[in-house]
Amino acid sequence: MNNPVLEAIAGRRSIRAYKSEQISEEQLQALIAAAQQAPSARNLQPFHFTVVQDQALLSRINESMRAEVLKTALGKMKETFSASQYSVFYHAPTVIFISTDMSAEKRYARHDCGCAAENIALAAHSMGLGTVILGMPWEAFKGPDGDEYRRLLRFPEGYDYMVSVAVGVPAATKEAHPVAGGLVDIIR
Ligand SMILES: Cc1cc2nc3c(=O)[nH]c(=O)nc-3n(C[C@H](O)[C@H](O)[C@H](O)COP(=O)(O)O)c2cc1C
Repeated sequence: MNNPVLEAIAGRRSIRAYKSEQISEEQLQALIAAAQQAPSARNLQPFHFTVVQDQALLSRINESMRAEVLKTALGKMKETFSASQYSVFYHAPTVIFISTDMSAEKRYARHDCGCAAENIALAAHSMGLGTVILGMPWEAFKGPDGDEYRRLLRFPEGYDYMVSVAVGVPAATKEAHPVAGGLVDIIR
């Protein structure tokens, strides 16, 4: 079976190299709309989207994340995170940060944010853009500059970093990930 939605799902990849050109305003607005149209438990919509195109701010967050990881990283990980060109955002021109309220009342917020992130990724793919969903920047928010970043990224009161999505024009392609076997049971 095939249709445009299934094609987008099958064609999306995590892109880890981007051209420096910025995405258009029309593309950005379409991505935000896609994020806002994500389903959420009880329709609470417990997500806030912060679009960052300020490369200096992204660099600062990258450095904080790197410092935090390097406190404990060993071996290959230490090597990767020490490289001068390393960017947790892969030098993407746009990063959409998704913050949320993890209070007990919003116990499904994590899933809601995941739905929004995937909506962004699929919508971007449908427009010829690349994305990668990112958990790692969390390290910057748990470090000493975390509160400053929460303020600079205008997270609403009580919200914290959940996930982000780097977006841009792809400068690399990637194979589909091998699908792990044994994860599906169909009981009839
Ligand atoms: C919640 C979540 C967090 C992720 N965090 C990172 C990350 O911090 N850095 C990264 O390079 N990729 C990250 N990824 C991307 C995965 O590595 C990627 O989805 C996986 O390897 C499969 O590859 P594909 O997306 O190309 O199919 C993340 C994906 C998800 C869903």
